[in-house]
Amino acid sequence: MSAPRIVVLTGVTRGLGRALLRELAAAGHTVAGCGRNAGHIEALRREYPAPHSFATVDVSDDVQVSSWAVQILDTLGIPELLINNAALVNRNAPLWEIQAREFDALTGANINGVTNVIRHFVPAMVKVKRGVIVNFSSGWGRSTSAGVAPYCATKWAIEGLTKALAQELPEGMAAVPLNPGIIDTDMLRISFGDEAGAYESPERWAVRAVKKILALGPKDSGKSLSVD
Ligand SMILES: NC(=O)c1ccc[n+]([C@@H]2O[C@H](COP(=O)([O-])OP(=O)(O)OC[C@H]3O[C@@H](n4cnc5c(N)ncnc54)[C@H](OP(=O)(O)O)[C@@H]3O)[C@@H](O)[C@H]2O)c1
Repeated sequence: MSAPRIVVLTGVTRGLGRALLRELAAAGHTVAGCGRNAGHIEALRREYPAPHSFATVDVSDDVQVSSWAVQILDTLGIPELLINNAALVNRNAPLWEIQAREFDALTGANINGVTNVIRHFVPAMVKVKRGVIVNFSSGWGRSTSAGVAPYCATKWAIEGLTKALAQELPEGMAAVPLNPGIIDTDMLRISFGDEAGAYESPERWAVRAVKKILALGPKDSGKSLSVD
């Protein structure tokens, strides 16, 4: 078992984030999580009392992320692990049919959101030269399919952004673009419809994923990795 860590985890209200929270908390780690749905955040506060901490934050809003980071750094301290998990997928459609509003929502959450979280949490981590940043990528961050061009654009961006970040971090830290695999979540149902039911549950996946994530360190920095 690894030493207890303070973990910042975005998109904790559903899907992979929710399942990661369960595994991390059970292993004795402290999770500071966020999501947009206030009802889900309230329920998480009841289910996982302090020192765990949950906030209603839209990661695409830099001001909200800034306040959240100040609060977490003040109360819990500097995270040892930062997992940028929150993201959106577009409804399947050719790129020319995607409305500006939907495209902006995707880039806002998937690229700007990840950067906002890095902007407000990573300086404290850099100061102590310690910590691992995991940015969730996708198979569609390394390949493409028709119907998901906006999502592919954001996940290919995450690969590039994370590899460049890895080159900027001081020795002893790591930034890793991680493809989680294919898991039956709300997001997969948007892309695959009912066929998503043929894939692994988030709860089963999280057992392997947490092992993989907790083992990441400087030797992995800048590498495109996957939860096998
Ligand atoms: N499922 C898969 O097969 C699969 C495959 C490849 C990659 N991924 C990646 O894995 C990650 C998790 O995906 P998932 O399948 O668990 O998706 P999901 O079921 O749709 O859950 C997404 C989570 O992100 C949160 N979120 C979305 N936009 C947000 C925002 N602007 N601010 C804060 N929170 C936000 C959602 O909560 P609220 O609605 O409460 O905000 C929710 O908790 C994503 O990065 C995704 O791209 C998933």
